Amino acid sequence: MAEETITLEKTTEEPASKQKQWQPSILAILCNWCSYAGADLAGSARLQYPETVRIVRVPCSGRADPMFVFKGFQKGFDGVMVLGCHPGDCHYAKGNYYARRRIALTQELLKLLGIPPERFHFEWVSASEGNRFAELVREFTDKIKALGPFEGVDK
Ligand code: FES
Repeated sequence: MAEETITLEKTTEEPASKQKQWQPSILAILCNWCSYAGADLAGSARLQYPETVRIVRVPCSGRADPMFVFKGFQKGFDGVMVLGCHPGDCHYAKGNYYARRRIALTQELLKLLGIPPERFHFEWVSASEGNRFAELVREFTDKIKALGPFEGVDK
């Protein structure tokens, strides 16, 4: 009796219906005291925002190391956001000012790495701004959707 072998091959083409459904995956790095609380408020208020956002909570936006941003792109996220307390509201006094400086450097490094800086966004969101959080995520997702999937860095 002859043995039959079944081979499964992965196709590289997605069905047309699946391509239409593509949603950008967004990494959102949020400071614990303001932005995460804002995201929590958005959730409690049942505000609609894209479900493809993945949240990482850090103690302060000043803790958002540029490596977290690069790692996000390396892991395949299409866009990365860093959100922190408004100026003057940081629970560690100056963390968000350090973050602002570091973000400017991060944007320059993204360019050097060949990652379009428009795939990265930095903003202030307070604990009472659930609406603002949801709106920022929606806007950023739309922006990334228009840019298309992140294909990685050209070698
Ligand atoms: Fe929110 Fe520092 S605690 S930015």
